[in-house]
Amino acid sequence: MPSNSHGANPPIDIDEDTPANASLNSTIGDVIAERLSRRDLIRSALAVSVMTSTIAPLAIAAAARPARAEDGVKPSFVFAEVEAGSDTTHHVADGYHADILIRWGDPVLAGAPEFNPAQPSATAQEKQFGYNNDFIGFIPLDGRADHGLLVVNHEYTNDDLMYFGLLGWTRKGKLDSMSDEQIRSSMAAHGGTVIEVKRIGERWHVVDTSNYARRITAQTPMQITGPAAGHPLMQTIGDPSGTRVLGMLNNCAGGVTPWGTWLTCEENFNFYFANKEALKKHKLSTQLRRYGVGEGFYPWSRVDTRFDIGQEPNECNRFGWVVEIDPLDPNSTPKKRTALGRFKHEGAGNIVNTDGRFVIYQGDDQRFDYVYKFVTEGKVDPANRAANMDILDTGTLYVARFDANGRGEWLPLVTSDPKLSSFTDQGDILIHSRLAADALGATKMDRPEDVEVNPKTGKVYVILTNNDKRSAKEADAANPRPENRFGHIIEILPDQGDHATTGFAWEILVKCGDPSIAEVGATFNAATSRNGWFGMPDNCAVDADGRLWVATDGNNFEVTGRTDGLFALETEGARRGTSRLFFRCPTGAEMCGPYFTPDLETLFVAVQHPGESEDPAKPASTENPTTRWPDFKDGQPPRPSVVAITKIGGGKIGV
Ligand code: FEO
Ligand code: CA
Ligand code: CA
Repeated sequence: MPSNSHGANPPIDIDEDTPANASLNSTIGDVIAERLSRRDLIRSALAVSVMTSTIAPLAIAAAARPARAEDGVKPSFVFAEVEAGSDTTHHVADGYHADILIRWGDPVLAGAPEFNPAQPSATAQEKQFGYNNDFIGFIPLDGRADHGLLVVNHEYTNDDLMYFGLLGWTRKGKLDSMSDEQIRSSMAAHGGTVIEVKRIGERWHVVDTSNYARRITAQTPMQITGPAAGHPLMQTIGDPSGTRVLGMLNNCAGGVTPWGTWLTCEENFNFYFANKEALKKHKLSTQLRRYGVGEGFYPWSRVDTRFDIGQEPNECNRFGWVVEIDPLDPNSTPKKRTALGRFKHEGAGNIVNTDGRFVIYQGDDQRFDYVYKFVTEGKVDPANRAANMDILDTGTLYVARFDANGRGEWLPLVTSDPKLSSFTDQGDILIHSRLAADALGATKMDRPEDVEVNPKTGKVYVILTNNDKRSAKEADAANPRPENRFGHIIEILPDQGDHATTGFAWEILVKCGDPSIAEVGATFNAATSRNGWFGMPDNCAVDADGRLWVATDGNNFEVTGRTDGLFALETEGARRGTSRLFFRCPTGAEMCGPYFTPDLETLFVAVQHPGESEDPAKPASTENPTTRWPDFKDGQPPRPSVVAITKIGGGKIGV
């Protein structure tokens, strides 16, 4: 179900900062809903065969597809497209291996016990692979593409699919019934993992007892750096210095820097902080509400008082940052880089600018929130790794304004701007980046997720997942669809190819959704097959050949007749806007973390929360998941896993 397979998974129900105005946009929504439900009738007749064979569920709807627009033009991607649909396992294009590399609960550190879901244990989980793998980065060792470190985010936990015997009818009720040990175990399943991996022949393996192996959890000591470090709003009873914090939360997407560090981005940190009564009396309650803090979806405050905003009113300010981790040094202290701003960070797509400065593009994943970029003051030194290690502490954070004429402007979040005179200092601006961006008149977007640069063309892709709360009145040039259920992708072209400059041109690359339903308004190239279109784009990757791959979050059989997957999207020439399905998730799962090795011979993907229900009225549980992927063992929960994809016989992916 869309509300359940959102990147912000359980919490979407409490997105309280986005007032709905259904009356203004009910027309298009009603039409689409009617068309979708009519299609359900068609599908129900096909459902049995779809679940057991490769018959496409939308074959009838797609029959009237217009003629191909790009016949005769060489495609950038060559592979046999996967049939769209839904079943309990994953599917990759013919001719490829798609091997499970590591699963939730697999040993990571020396001495880690084997996975035992019957006995959840925080001390075991601290040494095992965490839950809900999201961003994946590959850092080559000795310059090799077949041997390196894999860094993996563990965004959040689906406790109701992890533990047996939870009580309650709602997901929140089930979470509230967790034991203290289960809560501590889930805290240990958050964060990230570093593993050493090696390709032998065509298959990848995790190197046992590697010296690089590392688990980061919600309790790992971290340093706070940059302009907001030590700020009065960062000081707590536990850390009067305002410079030390335990753990990172809800790390969604990320990035890898050219100097081999891992940028891992805290997204929906608000859901861990509780105490509605304290929120009402909090001296910064307006600011906290702008970040959705106080609802406390996860019952963590029961075992750790820093998640109670009545007891530690500033602890929540220490989350919502980009964390930089050096995976080559397992003893290094992760650093929260406050210069990059505080919001619900999606990813950290980056590029070294022509003048040597480092530029990081960032989305704030909430309906009506913003697109940002950060530009360092210093330059990257390619010959001196150590010189780059703190380069992210000094620079300028900008937020995007998209104008109706196809132009745009990056607006700096700095104290010298009179519109920001109510902020006490730069630390205050960064801690409250969302409010500063509000004051600057940034453009409210349809859930900005990954923002990635194409190093071959300099174009920047902004992935916008959806926004069903946008009214017709609120539609603008960059977010043109009221009740935007299926999302779109914007392409930014920086002026003179300079990623540090403030001016840019932009256009919409594709409006997503089913092209066979005219009311949806999708704009895929007409050559896109019934399998190739997608809705709800989320993460993306640009490979070494400059090709764009898009991962989705929110498609499911009930709404779109398909699970989430990975799509190859043409961006240039006559084929621009043509999309093809390369990998399909098992039921209930979301597609995350596409990442290629530099030789393009391996693609790593992350399958997140397999086994969720697609029917909001019937939530899944550990006892009754929609799949037990990837082990398919009775009595064992489904397990989020990283999948390694290689070509049978070797060679580049999709070539
Ligand atoms: Fe965690 Fe915005 O997806
Ligand atoms: Ca996601
Ligand atoms: Ca995401």
